[in-house]
Amino acid sequence: MKSKPRLVSGIQPTGKLHIGNYVGALKNFVALQDSGKYECFFFIADLHSMTEYFTPKEKIKQIEDVALSYLAAGLDPKKSTLFLQSDIPEHTELAWILNTITPFGELRRMTQFKDKSDTHPENINVGLFAYPVLMAADIILYDAHAVPVGEDQLQHTELTRTLARKFNARFGKTFHEPKPLLTEVPRLMSLDDPLKKMSKSRPAGCLFLDDSPDEIRNKIKRAVTDSGRDIVCDPVNKPAVSNLLLLYSSIAGIPISDLEKRYAEKGYAEFKADLAEIVVAALLPFQKKKKALKKNAVRKMLLAGGARAQKIAREKIKEVRKKTGIYT
Ligand code: TRP
Repeated sequence: MKSKPRLVSGIQPTGKLHIGNYVGALKNFVALQDSGKYECFFFIADLHSMTEYFTPKEKIKQIEDVALSYLAAGLDPKKSTLFLQSDIPEHTELAWILNTITPFGELRRMTQFKDKSDTHPENINVGLFAYPVLMAADIILYDAHAVPVGEDQLQHTELTRTLARKFNARFGKTFHEPKPLLTEVPRLMSLDDPLKKMSKSRPAGCLFLDDSPDEIRNKIKRAVTDSGRDIVCDPVNKPAVSNLLLLYSSIAGIPISDLEKRYAEKGYAEFKADLAEIVVAALLPFQKKKKALKKNAVRKMLLAGGARAQKIAREKIKEVRKKTGIYT
């Protein structure tokens, strides 16, 4: 039997997940799993998340929250390997070795590093700088063929390919060069300011996956709109309504042009009320399932997935040690 191409992706546990994470990552992970086309590995990138300020107590909660969200969204430990990055020390070991072949200048060009340095000048740490190298290790450690990511991660997946190639050229064919599986991640903007990205740091404009139906209704009701009454997509002149249309379209799976037609003769109030109910209905099964899950089963589930992942990781690291001449 021909084995399926392997697919690897992860989410950082940095705070409450929001609707952008759902339509951009979670929903898509589940679709990839259920397509049956890949051998799927989904992990929680806790080591990456340490590059941003955190407290140890909240970190555990954040990890549990991503794990529960994986399961509630429909990832199934029987179909996919679900694990915690830090449970597999091979990730960090490989990252160190890759550090030694990573050109400093390439990392300095990474736009995510530059953005994060600009927004948090008080915390420009070396981990943040080397973040893409650990990400490369996460991927090539498993000989992944496909890496589902949003556009903002393309520079990192390109570096991953470069590092795999460089390692292979220097030490002999060891790693597969993975390809990004570009998933359309709608750029959702904040409901209270459509010029800023939707983010947990602006809670009033952010729809969290755990928000109650009334919280969702209120946030959407209060969402800013543009002048004029037309419900049309025009990101330059009507950024607020365009953002709501994008949200509606990505949740309901209806093209924006159809929505424009549907609401051509209708007002903002009706449009917003419909949108709120669509979001509430989309999140309800997720929220119900999440509440029914037991937190103490999460650790066990992650350890079981980790054991499977580590078997592969350990073999790969053995090979890397041999090829690089590490004295074993
Ligand atoms: N950097 C990714 C993000 O923020 C998370 C991540 C870490 C990742 N390691 C990965 C994604 C490996 C895919 C593969 O979205």
